[in-house]
Amino acid sequence: MSLIKKIKDYYKKGGRSLFTTPSHNQGYFLTTAAEKLLGKQFIKYDLSEIDGFDNLRNPQGAIKKLLTNISNIYDSKASFILTNGSTSGIIASMLASLKEGDKVLVPRNCHISVYNGLVLSGAFPVWFLPEYDSEWGIYKGIKAAQIEKVLKEQNDIKALIITSPTYEGLFSETEEIAKVCKRYGVIFIVDEAHGALYNFGNFKTKPAIQCGADISVQSLHKTAGAPNPCALLHISKQSSLNPDKVQKALNLINTTSPSYALLCACEASVKYLDSKKGRNDIKHLIDDVNEFKKNLPDNIEVYTGFNDATKLLIKVGGTDPERITSILYKTYGIEEEFSNDKSMLFVCGIGTNKKKIKLLNKALISINKEIKPQKRIHSIFSYVIPEIKFTPRDAYFKKHTIIKTKDSLNRVCAKAVVNYPPGIPILLPGEIISKKTINLIESKTIEVCMD
Ligand SMILES: Cc1ncc(COP(=O)(O)O)c(C=O)c1O
Repeated sequence: MSLIKKIKDYYKKGGRSLFTTPSHNQGYFLTTAAEKLLGKQFIKYDLSEIDGFDNLRNPQGAIKKLLTNISNIYDSKASFILTNGSTSGIIASMLASLKEGDKVLVPRNCHISVYNGLVLSGAFPVWFLPEYDSEWGIYKGIKAAQIEKVLKEQNDIKALIITSPTYEGLFSETEEIAKVCKRYGVIFIVDEAHGALYNFGNFKTKPAIQCGADISVQSLHKTAGAPNPCALLHISKQSSLNPDKVQKALNLINTTSPSYALLCACEASVKYLDSKKGRNDIKHLIDDVNEFKKNLPDNIEVYTGFNDATKLLIKVGGTDPERITSILYKTYGIEEEFSNDKSMLFVCGIGTNKKKIKLLNKALISINKEIKPQKRIHSIFSYVIPEIKFTPRDAYFKKHTIIKTKDSLNRVCAKAVVNYPPGIPILLPGEIISKKTINLIESKTIEVCMD
């Protein structure tokens, strides 16, 4: 039985007088502000672990059945619902596979949750830089050869974490990387937060666990239409990782009061994605996006390559993206996901209809006709990954102080320094500040460790 059906049946049979949390009493407390804001249904489904409704921390009944259903759909060894986003899944994956001092290979453009996972696990990061695409101002997907080179040189690396697709939608060579990881006995975790549609549509890549990754983490809320912060974690059938370890790690970091309304939203979302309608909607989304690309003048370029077609990364020749996004916002009420000095990103997901895509298309074409080319600034970014003095965990617990950047040579950074573009940290806590990095820091002051 599904969790949604179980809750529906519970109400059909009259429910019970619950002397339990949450205190809004599923709507019987009628003045609740949350009910006014979120609606009666949301509040009705917002139950706790009352009798017969299982427990997300140790699923044995209705939730276990739901997780088994999800695992069957995703063809995984085990799947977990995350009601605290991919962030919690990434941290739990790290806590389940790494212990203090273990080396983990990580690209410098990873999500902040990976960094947080380093602080919590005490693992030692081996950072690497993916190739930079200066035409588009983004980092490319990761090549298997780059990973193999590092694993050959350092035989004590325990795990690798990559982001595929990247925030901008670029895929890594996940299948080849998985083979390399297997050869070297390295646990392979994929942050697939932006890839929740891949199991149900025709994309240029297979989902990460089908490519051979041990773990993947997908945000259902990002592209698959579920509310914030619904997400899933999957362990692949081939992985030797014990699902109990992941459960234990999730229990360490998550609330003891997960929202049943969100659990039901995850169930509904997966059921829809896996349905004929869901798969059709994904197909139409891809068709609409492809149609968008056809109707553009030469001056407007959409990124095409080994990437997710639903992430529209766009360049308008001869113009800084900021000028375009400002007109889009002010004149057309269109807001992009993000832009850098070269390109703009428009995220399309299951809720992006044809009308909205056409609106963007027309707006860009008309701005392009009116806007005069300008002299563009070309930023050149030369960067060397700094040496590590303390692990992120040790740096986190050290006392900090703020000093002038010009006096910070050879001190140890205590707070991340990030330059935009390219948006990756030029310094992370625990890293030694060199002459070269000082020249890249824009701020006049910097937070450093005290010893
Ligand atoms: C690449 C990437 N990974 C992970 C996350 C975290 O996802 P969530 O918001 O579901 O916690 C994000 C969120 O922006 C992201 O962009």
